[in-house]
Amino acid sequence: MPGNLKLIMPPEEIHLLVLRLAAELRRDYADKNPVMVGVMKGAFVFLADLMRAMKIPSEIEFIRAGSYGRRDTPSTEVRITNDVETGIKGRHVVLVEEIVDRGRTVSKVMEHLKGKSPASLKLCSLFMKRVEDGHEVSPDYLGAEIDRGFVVGYGLDYKEEYRYLTGLYVVGAGGVGGEGGEE
Ligand code: IMP
Ligand code: MG
Repeated sequence: MPGNLKLIMPPEEIHLLVLRLAAELRRDYADKNPVMVGVMKGAFVFLADLMRAMKIPSEIEFIRAGSYGRRDTPSTEVRITNDVETGIKGRHVVLVEEIVDRGRTVSKVMEHLKGKSPASLKLCSLFMKRVEDGHEVSPDYLGAEIDRGFVVGYGLDYKEEYRYLTGLYVVGAGGVGGEGGEE
């Protein structure tokens, strides 16, 4: 394990969050065949586990958003770089994110998906960071709030590294910047 990483949530605990979210979604979407839209790339691990834990029919799609400039400043621009391929008009859509920080990425993606006239649109995020000045969106389904700091593992990366880790880790001091790029 790289020495600058500190475990903040073991895989077993993440698994319990996923099971709880899956149960909530099963209750609300059992007869709706929802389209689960994962935000690439980070959500792919969560989405794969979530979809199977739901144990109800659902379809899968991906959307990709890139942020340009520092993601923590108001000037950060979020652009859709890959769109969903299935028509979602009249469908029940659940946007699946691994982490909401300021909420810029998901609010932009939600706005974009709303333009396609889904029957409903909800947000499911595994993690949300505590921020002082508020988020741009609040998830309809949330796994856990976490403290500020840059986290990796369970699909989340730092410069494409560490996505494979099964637990959630915080990157030690000096390890991170706020530069944008592919989410
Ligand atoms: P937001 O637009 O500020 O909500 O940032 C959300 C996006 O930034 C997420 O989809 C992640 O891809 C990325 N992100 C934010 N915080 C972290 C983190 O701590 N680790 C890894 N990626 C993060
Ligand atoms: Mg993401």
